[in-house]
Parts: sequence; C-alpha cells; structure tokens
Amino acid sequence: MAKGKNTTIFFCQSCGYESSKWMGQCPGCREWNSFVEETLVTGSRKMGGPDKNKKGIGERPAPTALSEISLEEEDRMTTRMQELDRVLGGGLVRGSLTLVGGDPGIGKSTLLLQVCRNLAFDKRQVLYVSGEESLKQIKLRAMRVGEFNENLKLLCENGLGLIEETIRHMHPDVVVIDSIQTMFHEDISSAPGSVSQVREATNVLLQLAKGMNIAVFIVGHVTKEGTVAGPRVLEHMVDTVLYFEGDRHASYRILRGVKNRFGSTNEIGVFEMESAGLIEVENPSEFMLSGKPKEASGSVVVCSMEGTRPMLVEIQALVSHSSFGIPRRQTIGTDFNRVNLLIAVLEKRLGLSLGNCDAYVNIAGGIRILEPAIDLGIALAVVSSFKNRVIDSGLIAMGEVGLSGEVRGISMIQARVQEAKKLGFTTCMVPSVCAQSLKEITGIRVIGVKNIAEAVAVL
Ligand code: TYD
Ligand code: MG
Repeated sequence: MAKGKNTTIFFCQSCGYESSKWMGQCPGCREWNSFVEETLVTGSRKMGGPDKNKKGIGERPAPTALSEISLEEEDRMTTRMQELDRVLGGGLVRGSLTLVGGDPGIGKSTLLLQVCRNLAFDKRQVLYVSGEESLKQIKLRAMRVGEFNENLKLLCENGLGLIEETIRHMHPDVVVIDSIQTMFHEDISSAPGSVSQVREATNVLLQLAKGMNIAVFIVGHVTKEGTVAGPRVLEHMVDTVLYFEGDRHASYRILRGVKNRFGSTNEIGVFEMESAGLIEVENPSEFMLSGKPKEASGSVVVCSMEGTRPMLVEIQALVSHSSFGIPRRQTIGTDFNRVNLLIAVLEKRLGLSLGNCDAYVNIAGGIRILEPAIDLGIALAVVSSFKNRVIDSGLIAMGEVGLSGEVRGISMIQARVQEAKKLGFTTCMVPSVCAQSLKEITGIRVIGVKNIAEAVAVL
C-alpha cells in the first residue's frame, strides 16, 4: 500500500467490527445502524509490536533464550494501596498498559489521582494527563485527597502528538491518561471516542509503554451495556483490564480484574468512597454484613471466595404468593438461571409448592457473586422465606447444590470456615465431604450435610 494513503473503512461503533462497505446491521454484535465511516491513514506509521528492541528494516532480530532474560525486582512498583496491588498481581509492572473502566462518577479519576500521589511520594516521576477536566478541577479534587509533592505533573491536553512529545521529553515512570475517549490523533479525521481514534490512541500509548518502559494507566468510559465504550479491540491491546464497579448509592467500590497478563484475574479490591477520597476496606466481610437485619426470615450468610480471599455476604430471599398466573422470579447480584434451577430442585426434592409463588433473591450490598458455593445459602434463604422461619443468625452455610438435591464439595473450605469463625459465627453448615478436613478447627460447630433435605432438617 502506498505511503500515507487514505482509505475509508466502516466501523461498528459498538463492537469495533470492520467492514469495507456500510451495513445496516453489524454481523459481529447484531447492533442496528451502528456503522460509521472513518478514514484510516495506512502505511505512514509503523505498526508497533510490544517489542522494545525492535530493529530497523533489513536487520535480523536475534531470538533470545528464556534463560537469558533477567527479571529485575524493580519491575514491580507498589502503589501503596494493598487492594490495588493485589488486583494488579503484586504491584504495578513497568512497561505495562492498564485499562481502568467504570461508570461515570464511580471514582476512576479519584483512584488514579491517589495512585499518582502515592507513587510520587515514592520518588517516581508521574504524569497525569487529563482530557476532561481543567487544572483547577483537578486541583479541587486533589485538595480533598490530601498532600501532593512535586513529582506529580499535570497536563490538560487532548492531542496525542503533543502528549507523546511531552512523555518522550519528560520520561516519567508512570503516565495516567484520563480518558482514552477524549484523546485525539491529529492524523485521523474521525471524532474523539470513535473506534479508529480510540484504537490509534491506544496503539501510540502501547508503543510508548513498551518502548520507554513506562507504566501507563488509561481510563475508559463504559457504555450502558457495561463494556468499555468503543471497541472491544481496546481490551485485546492492553495488558490489564480493571473494572471499577459498585452501587452509585452505596459508598463502597469494587475493583475487579477482568484480564491480567501479570497475575490472576480472580482478585478483587474493595474501597470505600469517603469525603477524602477512596479508603481501602481491609475487612470486606465485616463491611458487607454491617446492615444485616436480625430476626428476619429469608436471610442467610454465605461465604464466597474472591480470589484468595474469603468474603462473607448475606443472601436475602423473598417468597410470596403470586397473584398472577405466571410467578415472577427475579435475582439481583447472582445468576438468574441458577436461582430458577435451585427453586426447581427445592420443589422436586422437598415437595415445596413454589410453583405459584413469586421469588426474589438478592445478594445484599450490591455485590455480584456467581460462585456455586453459595447455592446452599440461596436454597436455605428461599426455604426460610417460604416457611417464614428465621434462621439462627450465628449460622453460615456453604455448598454447591446438585440437581438431585445433593450438597457437593467446595474448594478452600478451611479458609472459609476460618473467616466465619473470625467474624463470630457459631455454626457452620458445610458439605459432608468437606466436614472431614475441618476436624482441627475449634471454636465453631461444623455440621456436615449430604443433601438439601438434611440441611433443612437442621434448621
Ligand atoms: P471521579 O473520580 O470524578 O469519577 P470518574 O472519574 O470515575 O468519573 O469521582 C467522582 C465522584 O466521587 C463524585 O460523585 C464525588 C465523589 N468523591 C467523593 O465522594 N469524595 C472525594 O474525595 C472525591 C475526590 C470524590
Ligand atoms: Mg473522571
């Protein structure tokens, strides 16, 4: 292709699907009328791989043996926020590109400003680029968050060319781009936030991150469907994708790893939004159970593993007689189909007539849990609400429920029971296959159950 030649391509604005002609419906995501014409400049820039030792044309790159590659300790920086470090897989990696997504107003800018502040205190050079807010607005936020030192530099700019120049000149250790949807590459005519702009901007930042060994954070806005706005391609290009989520009305926020090339994606970080910014929540279980009602039917505490950390949450169920022909079923915070399945199991195996009842299941606190280990808790909450019988508030239940009503084993049972004990629970209902391994734990009564009927009989 000729150097600098302009080509026109149609992009689906919701999923990034490329097509040479306009289409009414996107074959990728089935969205209607989402194709927009964008001009691409091809051939004028090198397509950058993540290889920082890239040789010029004609030079032969030498493959490296694994044993010759040295990993320096210095490769990871601590952000002085344990919750974030854990989600990142043990600290921030130099030369990595991290995407932080989340709803507007959830606290992305606040989190990253606090990270910048901590890194600046650790004598790292930090550049915070904002395309959304003025220096004064950032200052106002910073004043709420606390003291800052001179290692943190701010830049209000949308033009990628200028940003790139500044980064090359300043050579910082960490760069924050807030947000990628406001960035604008001068060579591309489409509007900021469009697929080709976002993709090109990310590509430039990727090359800077890998080429100059800078840790780059990019903030991405989220569409109403919950994915990072613009292209899915963005998620493929970066090393780490973190989602910042939480109920806007509740004060806590959860940082979840969706993709991580440097660690596991199971870990979550829990923060609380206060008047002085985000505060880490060291004991999320305590936090999640703080509003639990006493003496209420349909409420059971379960333990779910979030990565390596056990977390206790309350499950609430409300079962009431349905006044319409078709019963209503609704779930908040867990899998709808799974709850329906558990209700069917209760109907069949315990003979409960739930067929003419509305059922609502809610994970209190707005957190989302899909782990099967909370099955037993859901089932007990439904039974408790149906029979209008209060479950002892010192009881915690865990176990996966199978289709024949059997309670199946779950992983990391010891950690879960220890956490329950720590928070003052007195009785722990576990699958009978797991009860064996819990013999040494004292101070909490362990009840092993084989099936759902046994579990209900214990109540
Ligand atoms: P912000 O970081 O601007 O969100 P985002 O960048 O994800 O859009 O956070 C904005 C919200 O956080 C706003 O509603 C005010 C609130 N907030 C606090 O409650 N305390 C604080 O110290 C700060 C800085 C913000
Ligand atoms: Mg912001």
